[in-house]
Amino acid sequence: MRKNIVAGNWKMNNDLAQTETLITALQGQTKTSNAEVMVAPTFTNLWHAFQSLRESDIEVVAQNMHFAENGAYTGEISASMLKSIGVKTVILGHSERRAYFNETDESLAKKVDAALANDMRVIFCFGEELADRKAGNEEAVVGSQIKNALFHLGAEAFKNIVLAYEPVWAIGTGETASPEQAQDMHAFIRKTLSDKYGNDLADSVSILYGGSVKPANAQEIFSKPDVDGGLIGGAALKAEDFYAIVNAF
Ligand code: PGA
Repeated sequence: MRKNIVAGNWKMNNDLAQTETLITALQGQTKTSNAEVMVAPTFTNLWHAFQSLRESDIEVVAQNMHFAENGAYTGEISASMLKSIGVKTVILGHSERRAYFNETDESLAKKVDAALANDMRVIFCFGEELADRKAGNEEAVVGSQIKNALFHLGAEAFKNIVLAYEPVWAIGTGETASPEQAQDMHAFIRKTLSDKYGNDLADSVSILYGGSVKPANAQEIFSKPDVDGGLIGGAALKAEDFYAIVNAF
């Protein structure tokens, strides 16, 4: 059975002191749902966050990594470096990485391969832009993002892959996809998986929704049959809001 997951993407927010404050606040929250909980601090705070949360049920995950194992890639971090500090999951393909750092389906396919080769779990993000949706191309765009970056993989690899549908027009904008829009796209994503790998695999992969999820809308979005959780940006920076979303299941 696929898992429910709520992951907080802290993006480029929180220095060390702020990270400590947020972690302390998270530790004061009570989980009443069955969701797996993850938080993704910046690289500089990963080790500290990992140490602070190692006894908790919150997994510390990375926001990005490079595809090479090591070498002359100034400013980059490899999968094995993440693993060496205990991090076992990485977010790849976030729309901000695609838009501002030129990440493409091709480079993301290499990153996915590198993460899986290091036995890491991947939260693979994708989603259409507003112009795509206005033109009615959202399924074509999402379908090709998934195929180009993931469909070279064997079925076995999907044990370590979580998908995150994040329509770009809903990220950080306050604009959320309606629960029906989210469900329609998640059903399409599952069908895309099923057409290639079969029903059993498609049913086993968690598909998260991301884009302006808040305490006020989480329950309705998570009630949809193909929505298995959320990737949370802004609302993950407040412990109470984040746990209200975690507990929305
Ligand atoms: P948001 O960000 O919740 O602030 O819209 C979501 C994301 O980028 O993962």
